[in-house]
Amino acid sequence: MPVTFTKSALLLALMLGLGQAQAADPISPAELATNEGIPYPAVIAHRGASYDAPESTAAAYKLARDLGADYLEMDLQRSKDGVLFALHDNNLQRTTDVATKFPERKDAPANEFTWAELRTLDAGSWFNTAYPDRARPAFVGLKIQSLDEIIKIAEGNPQHKPGLYIETKEPKQFPGIEADLKNKLLDKGWLSSAGSKLGKSNTGVGQGKGRVVLQTFEKDSLKALQKEMPNTPKILLLWVGPGSIEPKSAQTFAESGEPTKAAYYAKQEPKDAAEFEKWVDEAKSLGAIGTGPSAELTHHGDQSYTDLVKPEMNKLTHDKGLLVHVYTVDEPVDFEKVMKAGVDGIFTNRAAELLKFYKRWPSSSVQDLLQDNGY
Ligand code: G3P
Ligand code: CA
Repeated sequence: MPVTFTKSALLLALMLGLGQAQAADPISPAELATNEGIPYPAVIAHRGASYDAPESTAAAYKLARDLGADYLEMDLQRSKDGVLFALHDNNLQRTTDVATKFPERKDAPANEFTWAELRTLDAGSWFNTAYPDRARPAFVGLKIQSLDEIIKIAEGNPQHKPGLYIETKEPKQFPGIEADLKNKLLDKGWLSSAGSKLGKSNTGVGQGKGRVVLQTFEKDSLKALQKEMPNTPKILLLWVGPGSIEPKSAQTFAESGEPTKAAYYAKQEPKDAAEFEKWVDEAKSLGAIGTGPSAELTHHGDQSYTDLVKPEMNKLTHDKGLLVHVYTVDEPVDFEKVMKAGVDGIFTNRAAELLKFYKRWPSSSVQDLLQDNGY
């Protein structure tokens, strides 16, 4: 009996055929990064070269720049009188001498201080106490850095100009910070996308289209960033916990009996595959070009979280046309692991080590570069 098609079956077959013919291969992560002007894989210096110098200070940012990192990462906050600056924690206790200079306000959020007050603080000495093997007299008295100053640092080495990878930190505390950031970047000429994909003169991402990447854990801030800076690449940061991916188990750290938070996070996982996918979909629908998931580190420690860079997770993210920049990885064993799992860039405190891992040899040693910069 000859095979016959009804009109509707024929139409369906044609549509399916047409669909197949039109379904292009998903763009590769390398192409995606190149289109955005983002190095592949990207070296993102987390709070500067913060293993070797006090985090978020000029010493850490200049070192990261001169080592050749692609991006200077920073957590953006705003002083009481409107100055944008870099600080990770919600208060000043861990990384400054606020308890000595402002004892009655030592627990206050940093945004309750004026810029003049913040500039009186010593943001370097804590590092010498915490890490005596890496201590330097010149770190004593280092200052909290404004965004203006970090931009100047990023522009300051003619041989290598890194980009900026800026996180809106606790954005609910800073209404309108996304617009403030846009105005500052515009004012400094950092929002123009002129130039080739990776820079006009091959001296780093800081001269090209992907010179700024914006990052946040909060969907509302991502929306605001997208509204203010629609053409600037954005990353939605992910972790398993409140405000982000829902965990499989509701057990708290205290209830878990685990000896460390890292051990607790290591046992956490997304509620199910659909929950993970939902967050990747939301990142994309809100305008992100990628996600920034957490990693479980081999030797744990305080930056070890839930493993959200399993190969199947990265594949799912890539299949949806998004990049994966994992945080925060410092050791070769983990560089190897996350690269094998398929990530496209790494936040690291140890920019020198990651650059060496990628065989991008820095021009000088950490010691020499610190010394050259007066530290
Ligand atoms: O921004 C990526 C990574 O820095 C997120 O964690 O807490 O170090 O800002 P955190
Ligand atoms: Ca950060």
